[in-house]
Amino acid sequence: MSDSVEKIKDRLGIAEVIGSYLKLEKAGKNLKARCPFHNEKTASFFVSPDRGSFYCFGCGAKGDIFSFVEQFEGLDFKGTLKLLAERAGVKLEYENRDERTGREKIFQILEEATRYFEDNLKLNDDAKSYLQKRGVAEKTRIAFRIGYAPDEWRSLLADLKNKKFAESDLEKAGLIKKGEAGGNYYDRFRGRIIFPIADSAGRIVGFSGRILKGKPDDAKYLNSPETELFVKSRILYGLDKAKAMIRRRDFVVLVEGQMDLLMSHQAGVTNTVASSGTALTDEHINLLKRFSNRLLLVFDPDEAGFKAALRGAGLALTRGLEVKVAILPKGLDPADMILKSPAGWKDTLKNAVFLIDFLLARILNKGYDKRQLAKAVEKEVLPYIASLKSRIEQSHYISEIADKANIKEEALWEELRKAVPIISAATSKVTKTTARDKLTKLELLERRLFGLLFAEKDKGLESELKNIFGATEFKTVLKFWQPFKEEIVFEVETILGDGVSEKEITELLANLKNEKLREKFLQKTRELAEAEKTGEVARARKLMEECQKLSKEITNN
Ligand code: CTP
Ligand code: MN
Repeated sequence: MSDSVEKIKDRLGIAEVIGSYLKLEKAGKNLKARCPFHNEKTASFFVSPDRGSFYCFGCGAKGDIFSFVEQFEGLDFKGTLKLLAERAGVKLEYENRDERTGREKIFQILEEATRYFEDNLKLNDDAKSYLQKRGVAEKTRIAFRIGYAPDEWRSLLADLKNKKFAESDLEKAGLIKKGEAGGNYYDRFRGRIIFPIADSAGRIVGFSGRILKGKPDDAKYLNSPETELFVKSRILYGLDKAKAMIRRRDFVVLVEGQMDLLMSHQAGVTNTVASSGTALTDEHINLLKRFSNRLLLVFDPDEAGFKAALRGAGLALTRGLEVKVAILPKGLDPADMILKSPAGWKDTLKNAVFLIDFLLARILNKGYDKRQLAKAVEKEVLPYIASLKSRIEQSHYISEIADKANIKEEALWEELRKAVPIISAATSKVTKTTARDKLTKLELLERRLFGLLFAEKDKGLESELKNIFGATEFKTVLKFWQPFKEEIVFEVETILGDGVSEKEITELLANLKNEKLREKFLQKTRELAEAEKTGEVARARKLMEECQKLSKEITNN
C-alpha cells in the first residue's frame, strides 16, 4: 500500500493535483489560492511544489495531495487512494477480497445493486416508457445509471446472494429489511424507478426509488435508510457530475427533486444539484462552498414552497454565500417546465435576482400602505440584511430600500441594529486563526529562524543557533518547533520570499541573541531581588555585577 502511495506521489505533482480543483497563482516559488477549506476573501492557502505540501495560514489546513483530496472530495483514505491511483495510472494491488474493509464491501454491494437495477430497466417496458413520457433521454438515463427494481419481494436479494454477499451486509447497505414482526428479509425497493445516488467522487452510496404504478398509500419516493455511507444531510444528488461545471461557471443551481436534476442536466445546465427533498443543511453548504460561493435557488411561486426554500436561502446567506433566486411559473416544477421548454428553463435561471432584492420586490408588490410597508421591511427583509457579513453590502441594500420603499436611511439603520439575523451567529462555526499577533518578540524570531533552518536556507544557521541557545536548549527549542514545520517554512517563504539575504539572517540572529540576553537579564534581576531579601550579601554582589554586564551587552534597538 505505501508503495502505491509513493508511486502516486512520484507521478502526480501537487500543483497539478490541487490546480485541477483551484485556480492557483504564482507566489514566488510557491503557489497560492483562496483556501477551499474556509471562507476567505484573500488568498492565504499556499502550495509548495518542491515539498509536495500545502498550508493555509487562515485555518491551519495542511498536508499533501492525499490529505488535500481526502478533505476536498470528502473521501476516506481508500477512496482517495483509488481516485489518485486512477489519475496517476498506478495499479492498486488489493491484498485479498476478505481483507477489504466493511465500507469497501458496502460500496461493492451498492455497485452490484446498481448494475442489477440498470439491467432490469432494460427488461421492463413500463419503466422505460415512463421515463420516456417524462422526457428522460437515453443518454441521460445511461449517464445517471437509472434503473428499475422489479415488483417482487426478493429478486435483488436472490441475485446478490447468488453473488455470495451475506444478508447482514445487504442489510447494512440498506437494500433489504425485515418486517416489524421479524421473519425473512425482503427487498426494500420494489416496483420503483431507481435513481442511484453518488458521493462527490461518483461512488454509489444509496438509492432513491420512485413508485412506478402506485397503490394509493405508497410513498411517491422511497430512499435508502441512513447508513455509514448514505448520510442525507451530506448528500447532494448529482454533485459528482456537476462539480466540475460548478467550479467552471462559479455558481451552482439547486433544485429539489431527482427528476428536476436530470432534466436540468439534460437541458445543458450541468451545474445543477438536487437536495432530494430535504432541507438544506450546513453540511450541504460546506460541500458546495468547495466548488463555488454562489448559489442559485429555484423558488416555487406558491407560499408554502416559498417558505420552505427561504429557510435554506437564509442559511446559505448567513454562511457567506451569494444567494440568488429564480422564480418558477405557477404550478410547474423544473422537470415539468423543462419538458415543455428547455429554453424556458434557461430563461428562468437567467432572470434570477439576488435574494434580498427578491424579498423587497415581493413586499413592494403587495399594495401596502406606508406603515404596513415599514413593518414588512422590518420583519421580512432586515433580518436577511443583518445576516450579511459585509457592511458595504448592507449599506447597498439599506440605500436601495430607502429609495424604493421611501423610508429614511437613518431609520433603517436603526432598525437594522435591532434586527435579529436569520440564523444566530452562535451556531455558525468560527474558523480559528493563528494568533500571530499574540506572539512575543522572542517567539516570532524563533519562528523565522527555525523556519529558515527547516527550509535549509542557510548552511551555517544551525551552529549559529546552537551558539545562542547552547546545545541543550537548542535541542529543546528544535523539538518545540518541529510540529509547526510546515507552517513556519511557508511563512518564511511567503514573508521573506526566495532571496533571503545574508544580512537579513544576521539581523535576525542578532535580534535573537539580544532577546535571549534580555531573558537572562530578567532572570538575574529576579535572583538578585531574592538574594537581597534573604541577606546573602556576597551572592547579591555577584549577581549585581552580572546584571550590569548583561545590561551593557543588550543593545537597545
Ligand atoms: N421526496 C422524498 N420522499 C417523498 C416525496 C418526495 O424523498 N415521499 C423527495 C424526492 O427526492 C423528490 C423530491 O422530494 O424528488 C421532490 O418531491 P416532489 O415534488 O413531491 O416530487 P417530484 O420531484 O415532482 O417527483 P416527480 O416529478 O417524480 O413526480
Ligand atoms: Mn415533478
